[in-house]
Amino acid sequence: MDRTFLMVKPDGVQRGLIGRIISRLEDKGFKMTAGKLVQVSREQAERHYAEHVGKPFFEELVGFITSGPVFAMIWEGDNIVTLSRLLIGKTQVTEALPGTIRGDFAAHTPFNLIHGSDSPESAEREIANFFMPEESVRYEKSVETWV
Ligand code: TYD
Ligand code: MG
Repeated sequence: MDRTFLMVKPDGVQRGLIGRIISRLEDKGFKMTAGKLVQVSREQAERHYAEHVGKPFFEELVGFITSGPVFAMIWEGDNIVTLSRLLIGKTQVTEALPGTIRGDFAAHTPFNLIHGSDSPESAEREIANFFMPEESVRYEKSVETWV
């Protein structure tokens, strides 16, 4: 089973979209194995976005991501890195298609609501920046038992 790091950014928390964003991932059949509100520190943000250090948008990005709480999560599912980024939509809001989270809810970059890891290696690095191993819960998910 593959896993990824997903994070509702401060704009999504402020706009009350945590639940609707989680619903899209649940609708796809993915499984959340950890989730919490976090006030991201400057150091944690710089580790998270290490690949973007020095780029023209970096300072605004770090300022944004530390501006208020985020909802950090670990999710599991087959091919979840690729599939969750399809659900999320393109980085630039001018390219994010309707039907994607960003395409449906975001109107200004970098306020694009949700982060998703871009590779399994990034996912493990990003998870380690936000979660202790014991914070993720192993469980089976089955709808048939309850309905
Ligand atoms: P990136 O990792 O390229 O995008 P994604 O979030 O889709 O993986 O960039 C990280 C964030 O930086 C992105 O969500 C928004 C911001 N950003 C800009 O503000 N301007 C830009 O030109 C790019 C590439 C990113
Ligand atoms: Mg990225």
